Amino acid sequence: DWTPDSFIETTVAALREKLGDDKVVLGLSGGVDSSVAAVLLHHAIGKNLHCIFVDNGLLRKDEFEQVLDSYQHMGLNIKGIDAKQRFYDALAGLTDPEKKRKAIGRVFIEVFDDAAHEVQDVKWLGQGTIYPDVIESVSVKGPSATIKSHHNVGGLPDFMKLKVVEPLNTLFKDEVRKVGKALGIDPNILGRHPFPGPGLAIRILGDITPEKVAILQEADAIYINNLRAAGVYDKVWQAGAIFLPVQSVGVMGDERTYENVICLRAVESVDGMTADWCHLPYDLLAKISNEIINNVKGINRVVYDISSKPPATIEWE
Ligand code: XMP
Repeated sequence: DWTPDSFIETTVAALREKLGDDKVVLGLSGGVDSSVAAVLLHHAIGKNLHCIFVDNGLLRKDEFEQVLDSYQHMGLNIKGIDAKQRFYDALAGLTDPEKKRKAIGRVFIEVFDDAAHEVQDVKWLGQGTIYPDVIESVSVKGPSATIKSHHNVGGLPDFMKLKVVEPLNTLFKDEVRKVGKALGIDPNILGRHPFPGPGLAIRILGDITPEKVAILQEADAIYINNLRAAGVYDKVWQAGAIFLPVQSVGVMGDERTYENVICLRAVESVDGMTADWCHLPYDLLAKISNEIINNVKGINRVVYDISSKPPATIEWE
């Protein structure tokens, strides 16, 4: 019978056997899959696992510091890399969603490749691939698609020539969470909403600037913190704020304002393929709207997305 503990025991033994004294490099994203894969590998080979966590400047507010901190507490051998500026430079002036994704994928590969080169004699690339990723590698917008389209253009970066080790590739998401729990991973990491690889770049419509990212981070933090405080976060499959680059008129005191709009999105879903918008309580929406408008400079209007998928996608880009 499958249990998380039996899975951990056999997998750790198999990884030890397979990897011996070899070194493994693995990119952490803050998400469930890469975290569980990393902790399993860490159990098997300890410091021979070298984790890399890239700050692409498109994460949620304070996420890089918080996630890095919790990984360090787990004892992982991890290197945090501040690559914000490289991503902003690559994104400057790009408005097309697919071009933005490709630029982000390309820079991520460059940054990761540089970091992987610093690990002497590394033999393996660790990945948090889970079973649905294996059977459904047709995901149109996933990061692997970005990586593939990049590769058609140039040669393979060196880390892609490494042998691949994927300890979770027989598991479904709920099994990954159970294994993570049995491994003692921070419930805040295990219970996280899905967050796209290109991050806030696909929640800011059109071109990206550090200023827009900062505004969206503030609004998104108010939104997510309120969902948590109201006990709603765990009932929602995915939630996030979107920055709309349109301006509308508002009033503040005697002044007329002309500022941007934040849209709130929250969905219920099983696998992200279809989704329904969540009927969040009006009182909660009112509180979030007031807090955003009163505290986030540059925003004078908040709207709520009442579209389901299909036909609307979960992300706006
Ligand atoms: P959509 O917007 O297609 O999203 O309804 C479905 C799920 O996929 C996530 N998503 C992405 N994840 N890279 C990712 O890693 C991407 O480019 C990407 N685009 C969408 C989205 O957040 C949702 O969970």
